[in-house]
Amino acid sequence: MDTDLPSLPNSLEARDRRSLVHGLTDLARHLEIGPKIIESGRGVWVSDGEGRTYLEGMSGLWCISLGYGQERLIAACEAQMRKLAYYHLTNHKGHPAPIELAEKLLEIAPVPMSHVWFANSGSESADCAARLCWYYWNAVGQPQKRKFLAHDRAYHGNTIAAASLTGTSYAHEGFNLPLDGFLHVATPHYLTGAQPDETEEQFVARLLAELEARILAEGPETIAAFFTEPVMAAGGVIVPPEGYFDGLQRLLNKHDILLVADEVVTAFGRTGEMFGTTRMGLEPDLIVLAKGLTSAYIPMSALMMNARIFDAISAYSGRLGIFGLTMTYSGHPVAAAVAREAIALYEELAIPERTKALEPVLLGGLRDRLGGHPNVGDIRGTGLLAGVQLVARRDPLTLFDASARFGPRVAALAEDNGLIVRAIGDTIAICPPLVIDEAEIAQLVDRLARAIEAAAAEPGA
Ligand SMILES: Cc1ncc(COP(=O)(O)O)c(C=O)c1O
Repeated sequence: MDTDLPSLPNSLEARDRRSLVHGLTDLARHLEIGPKIIESGRGVWVSDGEGRTYLEGMSGLWCISLGYGQERLIAACEAQMRKLAYYHLTNHKGHPAPIELAEKLLEIAPVPMSHVWFANSGSESADCAARLCWYYWNAVGQPQKRKFLAHDRAYHGNTIAAASLTGTSYAHEGFNLPLDGFLHVATPHYLTGAQPDETEEQFVARLLAELEARILAEGPETIAAFFTEPVMAAGGVIVPPEGYFDGLQRLLNKHDILLVADEVVTAFGRTGEMFGTTRMGLEPDLIVLAKGLTSAYIPMSALMMNARIFDAISAYSGRLGIFGLTMTYSGHPVAAAVAREAIALYEELAIPERTKALEPVLLGGLRDRLGGHPNVGDIRGTGLLAGVQLVARRDPLTLFDASARFGPRVAALAEDNGLIVRAIGDTIAICPPLVIDEAEIAQLVDRLARAIEAAAAEPGA
């Protein structure tokens, strides 16, 4: 393996290769090519160590929703560190910051919620959600309800249960996952999932019929919960077709299966509503939050649960004598203070309304500039979350062979143009900080369009 270091052995690139393990990265290749080091950020822009700036079209990893340099978040962090840098929530202890944050989350919740559990990452909260579902069904005397359903291509995180819920092979392969009883059903994506000549309505009806058949085959009495993202972000920015979630919700109610909404990406204005649950008309029993909760200024996640869940688990823990879930940093006061301030900013800046108003600017801009391009098969999204599906041919619609790596090539060329986006296969994902303005959206669209045009003009494309 090539482990030659760059000519400057003490450069950050060389030190990175000697010291760090990177996620979602080909580690062998990383030893050869090293990292791009990002050193600073301001608003929707980040700069590398060589003085180049990039429009951060992905909010980092779908998370820095309020952009870089938000002084109020920095001040909230510092003030809380000075007052009470740490306390915990175990053994009947409490402290103000997580109480205030939990109250606020319950106030703005998209459906009536009763209590909040805090953790440190989306993965942990998704894991905790799975555990709470098990605990709940044990509490109500149905311990056989243990299986979980989630979508193929869903992303729910990377701890063991969360990675098992995740429906992508990279989270499983080589890791002995998924765990037994974590089942995946068809992705509600018409473009890649429809049969020839199937209308969108027929596609939805077929998926729901297949889902019900699966539930009956497994036995509804064995299924604890269904996990879904309101919009599947990391799976390729997939907005389920009209009618899909209505039908899904009806099936879950009919078969007494809990619904967990994973709002790690979609909450806090991303879809043009404070919560994607509202935009998509879901009625979850549990809601997983992270990322935008603190606008990624500090790690924190949350799990909201309704009264059905909380009343049962609190009574059960009374019988057991303890609720055995615990984490040192659950409700960390500094993270909670930052999250509370972030929510104040989402409200004061009217971020959901602003996002709704900018949705046609982003999606319309992409469609105007790229809608007729022969390698663009679909432009989809909601709010400031968009996906541009690259295709080998539009008519008949022909997807690229994965080995063509057209999407990654477009993302690399966009980066040369000063725009960071993410290629999920041949979907270019776009998820800019929600503080982006119209002129910056125009730059984003232009830089991406030029990258697609350049990739299409390359020999062999
Ligand atoms: C929908 C969704 N759920 C859960 C997670 C996991 O969150 P984390 O990376 O904070 O563990 C992610 C991360 O991208 C996500 O997109």
